[in-house]
Amino acid sequence: PEIGCLSIIVLGASGDLAKKKTFPALFHLYQQGFLQDNDVHIFGYARTKLSDDDLREHIRGYLSHGASKEKREVLSRFLQLIKYVSGTYDHADGFQILNNEISGHEISKDSQPGTSRRLFYLALPPSVYPSVCEMIRRYCMNQSDLGGWTRIVVEKPFGKDLTSAEDLSAQLGQLFDEQQLYRIDHYLGKELVQNLLVLRFANRFFLPLWNRDNIDNIQIVFREDFGTKGRGGYFDEYGIIRDIIQNHLLQVLCLVAMEKPVSLKPEHIRDEKVKVLQSVLPIKLEEVVLGQYDGYKDDPTVADSSNTPTFATVILRIHNERWEGVPFILKAGKALNSRKAEIRVQFKDVPGDIFKSKRQGRNEFVIRLQPSEAMYMKLTVKKPGLEMSTIQSELDLSYGLRYQEIKIPEAYERLILDTIRGDQQHFVRRDELKVAWEIFTPLLHNIDAGQLKTIPYKPGSRGPEEADELLAKAGYVQTHGYVWIPPTLA
Ligand code: BG6
Repeated sequence: PEIGCLSIIVLGASGDLAKKKTFPALFHLYQQGFLQDNDVHIFGYARTKLSDDDLREHIRGYLSHGASKEKREVLSRFLQLIKYVSGTYDHADGFQILNNEISGHEISKDSQPGTSRRLFYLALPPSVYPSVCEMIRRYCMNQSDLGGWTRIVVEKPFGKDLTSAEDLSAQLGQLFDEQQLYRIDHYLGKELVQNLLVLRFANRFFLPLWNRDNIDNIQIVFREDFGTKGRGGYFDEYGIIRDIIQNHLLQVLCLVAMEKPVSLKPEHIRDEKVKVLQSVLPIKLEEVVLGQYDGYKDDPTVADSSNTPTFATVILRIHNERWEGVPFILKAGKALNSRKAEIRVQFKDVPGDIFKSKRQGRNEFVIRLQPSEAMYMKLTVKKPGLEMSTIQSELDLSYGLRYQEIKIPEAYERLILDTIRGDQQHFVRRDELKVAWEIFTPLLHNIDAGQLKTIPYKPGSRGPEEADELLAKAGYVQTHGYVWIPPTLA
């Protein structure tokens, strides 16, 4: 392991993402001993004029709510690691000061220069990525004669379509190598998403079943039971496909559908993800349903004429030996009747079924990403009792019950730790991002041009009925009268 000074620089330190995700994740890493007092320094950088203590109190306010006395003490120690530098995002001055501050700490105990590890976390809108990266490149790189590294963490939106995304990639690519760039998709940090590889490739159960011979259709679903909540301005520019489907759900699709990688090396895994994306056929407009919830346009930052989807069901088809003919149904929506994210693998009917008259549903393997993380296999069993009849039941692995002593880490915690360790497995590679945009850009242009229209739906509903009709047409058979209830501790 590398030793020596680690500097974590959060740019956009006074903003929402930093407050809600970045600093809390850093704090949790600190709490668990992953960041050591004597070699870590955290810097906040933003335009606002603040003192070190102003920033510390701002963060404390967010993290101390309901905290125990011990936690508050740890928090106070953590906050002492944080310093603040203010400056603009496109001028040398601020970045030179920042560099001096960072360098000041990179001196070892015997006053010799130590190693220099610099992690820049851009909690900023992408419009300033290029200028900020250029400033870092010019003024803030690790001192190479001391050893160490400089890494840049960025998060979506990476552009709005293929061309703009490629422009952004090219600009960043001129300044940094791919090994230095960490593109976050926080779904890749979720426990059950990370489990997909193990599940698929370490279990004999799944190996022979995971293909077109046995599987009828696969759904990857994201639902939220609230609307755009004051983010209307951002959201209206992007819509649900760019916000959720093109990134989060497509990443999940890759892990569900890809072939077995040669090894667990990040490049081997990402090679397979790219391959499966390259096999996705162009989306057919008749396999898309868009929705917009009633009241979405009441947000003053949203235009009255907005055609931006807050709901979408899109069917992707993978043209390869394993998946030909199996629809991958990606569905995401805001202001629906529940909040959950899951993968639902529906198997084909049993051939020559002798229980036909009692057929109640198909085998399904469901991976519940959130909330109540779980995997369960929905299957048919004999209804217990004297009669010979069948009923739907499940084999259930619910994390809350099975792993009572384990607290599942937040996605951002894990991903930041990976950036410090230099593991790019759970980050999106440039070519992966490009294919992801290739898949969705024609559809997005069509929607932006107002050709494909959104269908209104009631907030708190399942979304437009047309989406359920599309599912049925794609072959999904809904089971009636069976509900999985997350088991709770007695
Ligand atoms: C973000 C989207 O990437 O993911 C938000 O921009 C969405 O619109 C959020 O609410 C959902 O994340 P999670 O982890 O709560 O499922």
